Amino acid sequence: MSYNFSITRKQDMSVANTTNEPFGKVPTNHMFIAEYRNGEWHNPRIEPMHDLTLSPLALCLHYGQTVFEGMKAFKFADGRVNIFRVEKHHDRFCKSLDRMCMPPVSYELFRDSIRELVNLDRDWVPADGDGSLYLRPFMIATEARIGASKAEEYLYMVLASPAYQYYSAPLKIKVERNFTRAADGGTGAAKCGGNYGGAFYPTQKAREEGFDQVLWTDNKHHETIEESGTMNAMFYFNNTLVTPALSGSILDGVTRDSMLTIARETGIHVEERSISITELKALFDSGTQVEAFGAGTAAVVAPIKSITIDGKEYACYLGEDAVMFKLKSALFNIRKGLAPDTHGWNLVI
Ligand SMILES: Cc1ncc(COP(=O)(O)O)c(C=O)c1O
Repeated sequence: MSYNFSITRKQDMSVANTTNEPFGKVPTNHMFIAEYRNGEWHNPRIEPMHDLTLSPLALCLHYGQTVFEGMKAFKFADGRVNIFRVEKHHDRFCKSLDRMCMPPVSYELFRDSIRELVNLDRDWVPADGDGSLYLRPFMIATEARIGASKAEEYLYMVLASPAYQYYSAPLKIKVERNFTRAADGGTGAAKCGGNYGGAFYPTQKAREEGFDQVLWTDNKHHETIEESGTMNAMFYFNNTLVTPALSGSILDGVTRDSMLTIARETGIHVEERSISITELKALFDSGTQVEAFGAGTAAVVAPIKSITIDGKEYACYLGEDAVMFKLKSALFNIRKGLAPDTHGWNLVI
């Protein structure tokens, strides 16, 4: 099924210069919005960006029934725009929604809402360097009733905002041995708002101690590596790319999946398995060259310059020949249309 959206265009279609603005601060001219009630999506439409009217009783404000996605569109040299890995993001969106008892959005509605918004605001997609248009599909529970049970009414929306480089320098991170991002059986694999709100306090504490981010560990023993900030954790040592397996408590990152696919195709040995802090410490202590990086849509590849384990800082390898930079540029080339898209990851408009 294809949706016919009503589109109300903003009168002033000018594009703001956002190069010096913080990530996610300036939206494009328009937004997509649809309402769910009586078991169906109603009135899908694109409108000029505006504030919402919401009852203070709306369930999302009280019980955190919110789910979001984060994805990107890139400009090709010929002016066409590429929306990257729509299917994989839709798949994860639906899994997150299911975990939070929220209604699904069909693939067609998801794809078309994003495609039509990007098409209308295509002049906002940065053309240069690492620039991209960050896309934020999300859903919130809007039913006005402060009873703690799942809502019957929701809003599905898509916003867009130009994005440039996320982190300007390699990261100094700290292994988190006290706080937990996600527990077994919890919502760690879902992209729901509460996971992020709960991570702010430990992250803020780490920042006050001079770190950029925390490296989360498992909730029982704080010994097995999970992920870092809004990124999946990846390591390259002994000719092997190693990343934590999808355990249910970490996010199934689209960048992670893309990197692993590219790595396997380029003949790099890949292991998805559990990595303990003891193993990591032993590697550093033995003088093994270790590359560490975060992989995520916002930062793409965020090189890690050091990892502090129980107060001791260990340096990671950042040389120009590092494998993470090769993977980053291979991914960049596919997304910018500079290398063939052999997996059907690109939706080019
Ligand atoms: C908690 C968390 N882990 C990992 C990632 C990386 O996922 P992706 O590559 O799909 O952006 C993200 C970002 O979306 C995230 O928020």
